[in-house]
Amino acid sequence: MSEPLHYPDLVVCVLAAGQGKRMRSVLPKVLHPVLGKSMLLHVLHTVEELQPKGIAVVTGDSAEKVREHVGQPANLQWVVQDKQLGTGHAVTQCDTVCEDATNIMIVCGDTPLLTCQTLDSLAKAHQGSGAEVTFLSAVLDNPFGYGRVIRDESGEISAIIEERDANEDQKEICEVTSGIYCVKQNVLFKLLQKVGNNNAQGEYYLPDIVPLALAENMRVQAIQMHDVNEILGVNDRVQLAVAEGYMQKRIIRDWQRNGVTIEQPDSVRIEASVRLGTDTVIGAGCQLLGNTCIGDECHVGPYAILEDAWLDDAVKILPFTHVESATVASHAKVGPYAHLRPGAQLDESVHIGNFVEIKKSVIGEGSKINHLTYIGDAVIGSDCNIGAGTITCNYDGANKFETRIGDRVFVGSDTKLIAPVEVGSDATIGAGSIITKKVKEGGLTLSARPEQRHVVDWQRPKKKI
Ligand code: UD1
Ligand code: MG
Repeated sequence: MSEPLHYPDLVVCVLAAGQGKRMRSVLPKVLHPVLGKSMLLHVLHTVEELQPKGIAVVTGDSAEKVREHVGQPANLQWVVQDKQLGTGHAVTQCDTVCEDATNIMIVCGDTPLLTCQTLDSLAKAHQGSGAEVTFLSAVLDNPFGYGRVIRDESGEISAIIEERDANEDQKEICEVTSGIYCVKQNVLFKLLQKVGNNNAQGEYYLPDIVPLALAENMRVQAIQMHDVNEILGVNDRVQLAVAEGYMQKRIIRDWQRNGVTIEQPDSVRIEASVRLGTDTVIGAGCQLLGNTCIGDECHVGPYAILEDAWLDDAVKILPFTHVESATVASHAKVGPYAHLRPGAQLDESVHIGNFVEIKKSVIGEGSKINHLTYIGDAVIGSDCNIGAGTITCNYDGANKFETRIGDRVFVGSDTKLIAPVEVGSDATIGAGSIITKKVKEGGLTLSARPEQRHVVDWQRPKKKI
């Protein structure tokens, strides 16, 4: 592990007030998720790793929604930009928050792929060089949409021109700005005061501080990115999907390097907040979503979907199983085609088989529910065997009721347990029973069965020709 970073003189401004018109969405752009985590949280978690003096997040019309989503981390201050007059105007709103800092880093809330290593290199290059303005640039095959870096005959930076203001020749330039800057505090706000809005969008552009700084003989430097994908700015849903694709590759590679086997990695979705243990195998086509946490030596899938699931060590999830907000203790086996719904809690070595649905129920150690069963609002003890087709009838159309089953109970196939109902330990229930009253401990309980008849002279119908 590398040393934790610390930037006690740096304030980071995260720009997140833009309406994100190109997303065509009611959801603020920076709240759109990339692998289950909003773009803004990706950026904030990356920025937090720098341990800066403070973080200022600029929000606009959707300030309430954004604040509710992010919560209130200790070193984060909210800044409101009432009218979205451009990125330069957005930074100007942060002047008070930035007062006591030496350097200000500006990051856009729509660049989820940024890494902390890159921001660290930017900050170090800025501090080490003594430049007034340092920004991250990249050479892209397709620079469309980005601000182009304009250089003079001697290769020195002279300006940054936005896509919409660029002439045909400038549009050919492939060196772009990332929108990520490090600027000395004592010049930033003075330069911003001089930025005008005489451009195609009528906005106050942050990149316009570059020519203004140069005019005052300040040093401006560009640091070129190695991994150009990192600066991908998401402005529409096509770019959102591209960003997700890159991030997925990165996350899968990190888990592989941490001892997880992933079969057919291109077919698998592993969201950003998922945690995986070593020697776990993820089969083809699996989707591991939300805050799913999987222990060591588990085997999942192929084609299982796990959302906010908790798996201890050595759990087997067989193909096509769906687990949502459920916990599974070690050595348990679930599926194929099983459905664990919210509140399902399986203790050690439980077996859940095909076409079994478990909701808000505790299943005790070593119990088996192997075929075609619905268990809801139940507490089942250890070492029980629940036969095929058992149903806990937990709902009367208005209210839910509980079923409680002791230890070592055998429930015969096709039993209906009409809740609320209790079954004592060591009881055996005969197949096809409808249980409406408390079942005593031990012994055999079964409900009356219809009489069986035999019709000797019955003829099988014949197919009409
Ligand atoms: C911006 C840069 C461009 C750069 C690109 C990199 C400007 C003028 N352009 O373009 O040089 O190549 O990012 O991705 O800076 N925002 C505010 N308030 C505003 C306007 C925007 O907070 O008034 C925020 C947005 O929420 C967004 C960020 O600033 O997170 C960038 O704005 P966006 O509209 O995405 O700018 P781009 O066109 O991508
Ligand atoms: Mg953008």
